[in-house]
Amino acid sequence: MDASAFDSVLVIDYGAQYAQLIARRVRECKVFSEILPHDVSVEEIRKRRPRGLILSGGPSSVYADGAPAVNPEFFQLGIPVLGICYGLQGMAQALGGEVAHTGTREYGKTDLRVSVPGSTLFRGLPEEQTVWMSHGDVVVRAPDGFRVTAGTESSPVAAFEDPARGLYGVQFHPEVAHTPRGTDLLKNFLYEACDARPSWTHVSIIEEAVAEVRARVGDNKIICGLSGGVDSAVAAVLVHKAVGDNLTCVFVDHGLMRKDEAEQVEETFRRLFHINLIHVKAQDRFLAKLEGVTDPERKRKAIGEEFIRVFEEIARNELAGARFLVQGTLYPDIIESGTRDAAKIKSHHNVGGLPEDMDFELVEPLRNLFKDEVRAIGEELGLPDEITWRQPFPGPGLAIRVIGDVTHAKLEVLRNADAVVLDEVRKAGMLRELWQSFAILPDVRTVGVMGDERSYEHPIVIRAVTSEDAMTADWARLPYELLERMASRIIAEVPGVNRVAYDITSKPPGTIEWE
Ligand code: XMP
Repeated sequence: MDASAFDSVLVIDYGAQYAQLIARRVRECKVFSEILPHDVSVEEIRKRRPRGLILSGGPSSVYADGAPAVNPEFFQLGIPVLGICYGLQGMAQALGGEVAHTGTREYGKTDLRVSVPGSTLFRGLPEEQTVWMSHGDVVVRAPDGFRVTAGTESSPVAAFEDPARGLYGVQFHPEVAHTPRGTDLLKNFLYEACDARPSWTHVSIIEEAVAEVRARVGDNKIICGLSGGVDSAVAAVLVHKAVGDNLTCVFVDHGLMRKDEAEQVEETFRRLFHINLIHVKAQDRFLAKLEGVTDPERKRKAIGEEFIRVFEEIARNELAGARFLVQGTLYPDIIESGTRDAAKIKSHHNVGGLPEDMDFELVEPLRNLFKDEVRAIGEELGLPDEITWRQPFPGPGLAIRVIGDVTHAKLEVLRNADAVVLDEVRKAGMLRELWQSFAILPDVRTVGVMGDERSYEHPIVIRAVTSEDAMTADWARLPYELLERMASRIIAEVPGVNRVAYDITSKPPGTIEWE
């Protein structure tokens, strides 16, 4: 999408975890924001014609060896700059103020006293407020020309500004929820200091993306692989809005999806949106390739390779003549730890990835968006909740949740048990707060007693985790009553299961999936 149509305020990254959150907050204020590394050149910044800059916080001390320096040229761009935490200290240091190691650290909720209530950043905000601090160094003297606008017990210079030059700084973190008036302060910077228009709305994002895809693709044919997940679904519907019947979606059904998922993809795309859809029912091919395969990595490889074979066959036949390929790449896939990483096809997600030598030009309509924006746009476009709020699902699907060799019968058992887990999670209203919740079928049998009969059948393991990004995860403290309902329903409704266990391993040391 061409973001240059929107007023933007760029975030300069001095420590990745802070920068993303700031950019998301700016966008919530309806101003477009992108993250650039701290060593970005001023030419690069000028090219984007931003209305302002925000220098992010970061873990370093400005005095530490190798600390990322704040480029003094940023202050000569003629646009307003807001320094946050490390950004404030770097600004102070670059402009002749003084930063010191006083030995007192401020961490957590801190009382702030505003000394210049009418100042740009604090306009309309209370004189006393709680802010979130996390720093060791403090600014002890503001640079010449600046006035100090707020302080705390340990930070005499908790905020400063030089409105004539458009320079502002805060020691605390306005981007975190623990600073209750933080968003209002950011709005003052964005709307008052930068005079940025709040035009980054879901409707205008869609309009802009549609116009850009239309201009890029023209009358050419374009294809989109659907996985059943939210990113490819939203990308497909956006592109369809732009080019109509010139889009063909391909859904390779490997038979390893959750219950009713394949039908739902068909229903949504063909019947709800009238999108050309090739639904390749290739269950048997995939099962044949998985026969006797028990090693998790070999399963992934077998599925990945077969996926490519199927896609290539279609590309040669039904899709011959297509020039463009839609990818649901998101903004966090592009910015990795605040560095300029070239966009890659998600081939590391080895399954569902396409062969790299395929001769398509990529169209990535979501490449500027965060996941929550993609979901909101999906809702705006009329995609059903079951798709926009679907939990992440691995490319190899249920094959890596049937432990040991994968058979049709075992997949059926797992699919039915998994449907109970998801149904109960949904009814309990916990679907959105859990990162993933699903069932696993281990390759063991256990003894039980049902009626007067001894049984010797499979257990099902329930896994539910909370997570921010799947890098780490915690097992979810599901209510006992919910676990009980799941367990008794699974045993009553799923033949072949006589025991249910709950996995209480976090990541690390466990991974989210069992294989
Ligand atoms: P783990 O199990 O490593 O998973 O904690 C982290 C996240 O990645 C998903 N996952 C995969 N996704 N292909 C995928 O597309 C895979 O081979 C794969 N393996 C794991 C997993 O569901 C979780 O969200």
